[in-house]
Amino acid sequence: MSETERTFVMVKPDGVQRGLIGKIISRFEERGLKLVGAKFIQIDQDLAEDHYGEHEDKPFFDDLVEFITADPVMAMVWEGQDATRQVRSMVGETDPAESPPGSIRGDFGLDLGRNVIHASDHEDPGANEREIDLFFDEDELVEWERVDETWLY
Ligand code: TYD
Ligand code: MG
Repeated sequence: MSETERTFVMVKPDGVQRGLIGKIISRFEERGLKLVGAKFIQIDQDLAEDHYGEHEDKPFFDDLVEFITADPVMAMVWEGQDATRQVRSMVGETDPAESPPGSIRGDFGLDLGRNVIHASDHEDPGANEREIDLFFDEDELVEWERVDETWLY
């Protein structure tokens, strides 16, 4: 059995505007992941620049920060076996055009800059913990047991 871990996921402003929050949450629930934190917020400039700090020298950085701060997002923490990698495989590739049908970006997205969802990068060790810490205080994460936990995972 792989390690249980937590990962950070966010429905971006385009996903919120398009009414996709519920569908996206359903996919993670149905996969067997467990929700341990959620907040509906509007990201400010500082948080956006911190969150996307790795991209600060990229040509798309300013547009990305403007977009992610323009409207509310649904920020979440999901827990499960190998959760970061599992969630990224459900999300698809960065460019929706490269994302297969069945993935979230492949089913709901068309545009590289408006790709519906953020999820921590499984190829960047520690990104999940870093992003969770950036968006959530420890007491906003909820420890809970599903009644059938031992039968599930
Ligand atoms: P990145 O971390 O590379 O992708 P991912 O979201 O899959 O981890 O980039 C962050 C976001 O920046 C990406 O979701 C969309 C935007 N972006 C662009 O607008 N243009 C680009 O060329 C790239 C690579 C990303
Ligand atoms: Mg990334």
